[in-house]
Amino acid sequence: MWSLLGQTTPPTGFLGARGSLMLDFVFLAMFGIVPLMGLSIYLVKYRRKYTVHKIMQISLGLTLAVAVAAFEIDMRLFTDWEKLAASSPYYIAGQWNTVWYSLLVHLCFAIPTTFLWIFVIVQAVRKIPAPPAPSDYSRQHIFWARLAAGGMTMTAITGWIFYYLAFVAS
Ligand code: HEM
Repeated sequence: MWSLLGQTTPPTGFLGARGSLMLDFVFLAMFGIVPLMGLSIYLVKYRRKYTVHKIMQISLGLTLAVAVAAFEIDMRLFTDWEKLAASSPYYIAGQWNTVWYSLLVHLCFAIPTTFLWIFVIVQAVRKIPAPPAPSDYSRQHIFWARLAAGGMTMTAITGWIFYYLAFVAS
């Protein structure tokens, strides 16, 4: 909201650190998304709740798509995150620094994971019968879906580390 007013410096977020509204929102949202994904996998693996798993995964995918879109718009158009990170001891202007390295590691997980989630959901909807149940496609789904789940977990962990280094540390 602040950034809509053309303001790119604090106060913008709500966590009391230096994050913008969207940075804080995504940082916090991942604490909900990762456990919900874990619950959805537990339900399909140990309770055979195939339909609940399908609904949960598609809902998580859609929620993430909206959050990522809003986040990208904020980062590209409104918030200069490097300005917010400038007072971090891990940030050194104009040269490779710990904050940039941590962002690079984060993006190595976040970018492939985005495509993996689109692939896993599209293929599952196309190839798993409705209502969902084990099928000829199960082996392939389990392989790619485990990779997608691992990628999302690492995206969250590396994102939290980046957030700390850039916007919390002082
Ligand atoms: C990115 C989205 C998704 C992720 C991360 C995901 C994750 C997983 C994982 C990790 C398993 C294997 C659990 C195990 O180790 O046994 C699994 C199984 C399953 N998933 Fe998904 N899933 C996703 C989307 C979907 C969708 C959209 C559907 C339905 C259209 C679906 C239907 C199933 C079914 C039926 C199984 C059981 C397969 C079997 O045991 O034969 N999943 N999912």
